[in-house]
Amino acid sequence: MYRLLAEVDRSPLSELLPFEVAGALLAALAQQQPTFRRVFGLIGGAVAKAVSTTFIILVVAAFFARHVLDNKNTIAKTHSPEIVQARMLARFEAGSVIPRFEKYHVSRPDAVAMLQKVLRPAPLETYTVVVGEVGCGKTSAVHDAIRANSTGIVYHIVKSEVLVSMPGLLAGSLAFEFNQFTFTAGYFKDRGIEMHQIASAEEPFKSWAILELGLRDVAAQFKAKHGHVATLVIDAVDQIAQQGPALLHVIQNFAKAAADEQLLNVVLVTCDGSNLPELKASSAMTRARIVEVSDITDEQAVDFLLHRGVNEDSAKRAVAEIAGGRFVLLNRVTKQLGRGQQVNQIFEEFRVDTADSLQRLIDDLALYNATSDVHKTLCDLTHGALHIDIVHCALGKDLTKKLLATNINILAYHPNDTYTLHSRHVQRSVSTLLNCTRPLGRPLFLAS
Ligand SMILES: Nc1ncnc2c1ncn2[C@@H]1O[C@H](COP(=O)(O)OP(=O)(O)OP(=O)(O)O)[C@@H](O)[C@H]1O
Ligand SMILES: [Mg+2]
Repeated sequence: MYRLLAEVDRSPLSELLPFEVAGALLAALAQQQPTFRRVFGLIGGAVAKAVSTTFIILVVAAFFARHVLDNKNTIAKTHSPEIVQARMLARFEAGSVIPRFEKYHVSRPDAVAMLQKVLRPAPLETYTVVVGEVGCGKTSAVHDAIRANSTGIVYHIVKSEVLVSMPGLLAGSLAFEFNQFTFTAGYFKDRGIEMHQIASAEEPFKSWAILELGLRDVAAQFKAKHGHVATLVIDAVDQIAQQGPALLHVIQNFAKAAADEQLLNVVLVTCDGSNLPELKASSAMTRARIVEVSDITDEQAVDFLLHRGVNEDSAKRAVAEIAGGRFVLLNRVTKQLGRGQQVNQIFEEFRVDTADSLQRLIDDLALYNATSDVHKTLCDLTHGALHIDIVHCALGKDLTKKLLATNINILAYHPNDTYTLHSRHVQRSVSTLLNCTRPLGRPLFLAS
């Protein structure tokens, strides 16, 4: 110890730093004293361990904090309302990509020209409901009208999804993303809405409300940038109505408001039948213009069948007796003829279906005593359109509604407020079943 102190003493203290002195002192002590060395070794080890553990924890925490912060910044940059809206705006500007047609395609210049006006209205006064019988070619005609120039048009088709998924899938078509930034009190307040109004809503209305706010913003941006409104087409809205009309009415209200505010051109496409009354039940229908996509002409239909490999005689008969210009029927007939069936046999299948439908109605509505009014009106319909008032008066609203339903498909509604029988084969079936060519003598409905 004395030697040690002497050694330290020999060094010029002025040249040593205090910790060097202390270090040298401890080292010297440790060399000299095993107990001291052990005790200080233990303490030193513990201190070193604690320091190194703390150091590691701090480094890891710093790393994670940095990472989380970076992530947050990236999320804020890529998911902020501005970025979300910029993507939707870009989607409108680019327009939806419409698939190319695959097989022989009938050109329908009139229907396409009419739809192109609907897609680019000047000025925007109403929203539009495009109606047409099931399978008459609405979707294809709308595609044809968009395909040539889709700029400014987003097209979305509703499939058979469950109702709650509808706004999410529409958001996908619009390149809109629901995220934490589109669901904050500040975001809603900026748009004049209290958060609880949205938070308390059930799905799918909650998601629709958030999507609608985004749509409104982007529609306004589009109009300001391009000087005209963008267009949103929602096809097959009958799929929504089938699951309950409430969401359809919310969408109609938006479409009406968007037209009133000259904000966005909304086009809804639907097969009519049972769905039109749902659409009409909304007061928003007052701001709707209804346009119709109808069947192609008989000549076009025959040509279509010839291009699909049907011989001329069968093609002419199939069009005249079964399908008229209805694509969905022409496709079915093509398949059945291809399987070797004759036109007569195919018609017989359709006739049996129609007879079953009518019979079910008769059973349901106890119509055995169908009045001559009902009989006469149905027979009149085999010759052409009748005004809806005449039909309602003769058949009653209940029977009319049932005849319109898509599972029965006997009546078809047209936007000029007329009804026809649903298709060529229904005309022939009803005529045969009700013996319409015979003079009316007694209340006759179906020969049972
Ligand atoms: N112009 C056309 N040329 C050739 N085939 C067509 C044409 N339009 C429609 N089709 C065919 O007819 C069928 C029905 O067409 P589409 O789906 O467009 O009818 P829709 O009226 O939209 O039917 P839905 O009522 O079921 O929605 C499809 O197979 C389609 O390929
Ligand atoms: Mg369709």
